[in-house]
Amino acid sequence: MLADDLKTLLATEYAFVIKAQFFHWNVEGPDFSQYHKFFGKLYEEVYGAIDPTAEYIRILDEYTPGSFERFSELSQIAGQTKVPRARLMFTELLADNQTMIDLLNRCF
Ligand SMILES: [Fe+2]
Repeated sequence: MLADDLKTLLATEYAFVIKAQFFHWNVEGPDFSQYHKFFGKLYEEVYGAIDPTAEYIRILDEYTPGSFERFSELSQIAGQTKVPRARLMFTELLADNQTMIDLLNRCF
């Protein structure tokens, strides 16, 4: 059902934003400045997709999820509790980005 796929997408977008923001705050290394800016831009862009996704759900006359608990049940990407090395941060977000693209394709 489209509304269910959109709820999964919403939760996954939120999880992605949290992770990208987490990396933005904690990335280290000689290229800190570029990495910090890149992760910042990334979470801002994906954050911009959250509200339209929620409004599509409402257009379908369903209520949106809206708690950490529900988002963590629905999200298709795993949260990160450790601070990985910068290179691993990129690898992880690249894979998570593909998960979001797959979800978007399913919704479209
Ligand atoms: Fe910041």
